[in-house]
Amino acid sequence: METPSLVLGCPTGRTPLELYRQLVAAHRAGKVSFSKAQLFALDEYVGLEREDPGSFASYLERHLFRHVDLPQSGRHVFDGAADPLDACAAHDAALRGGFGLLLLGIGENGHVAFNEPGESLQVATHVVKLSRETRLANAGAFGGEAMRVPLEAMTIGMGAVLAAREIVLLATGEKKRRAVETMMNGTVSTRCPASLLQLHPRVTVLTDF
Ligand code: PGA
Repeated sequence: METPSLVLGCPTGRTPLELYRQLVAAHRAGKVSFSKAQLFALDEYVGLEREDPGSFASYLERHLFRHVDLPQSGRHVFDGAADPLDACAAHDAALRGGFGLLLLGIGENGHVAFNEPGESLQVATHVVKLSRETRLANAGAFGGEAMRVPLEAMTIGMGAVLAAREIVLLATGEKKRRAVETMMNGTVSTRCPASLLQLHPRVTVLTDF
């Protein structure tokens, strides 16, 4: 890796799984080291223990952290079981230098991290009520039962997104096409949080459509 002390923002969900497989393979081949890197979760469900298989903390452990040489001190996940406001403040404090590289997915509704479409967006890490679409889309990790997806989450805000030195957004599958088109060509609007990336100077969008 060219930037050993990279501060990397790590999304969860289905989309980045192949990327994480490739990163683990590159590490095993001796091409990438995470020993000096700082990796950050972007969001987390409120109320889930870190060890809960549905938590993003356990997702990142399972798919990336435990397979590479990332020390505990480089693993920045939310404690979903802690007081959410304290957990958000702790995340912002740890991330005060900002992301060097922020990897992002996009929701079918245009969310980035868990910044959901609405009347307004927030700058700092905050608690958010998840939309119905998002809970449905994420039901897979909860036995397919959207009712079991927590109602609230914590997420980095648009301040950390827009302050990242570089952003790479991944979107796969036809279901994401409309959100990606709105993000890239639509009006910049809180109704499509991803559209704010139009204001960022260094964004790469990778899609398979
Ligand atoms: P997905 O989630 O990769 O599971 O589609 C992306 C997102 O909601 O940001």
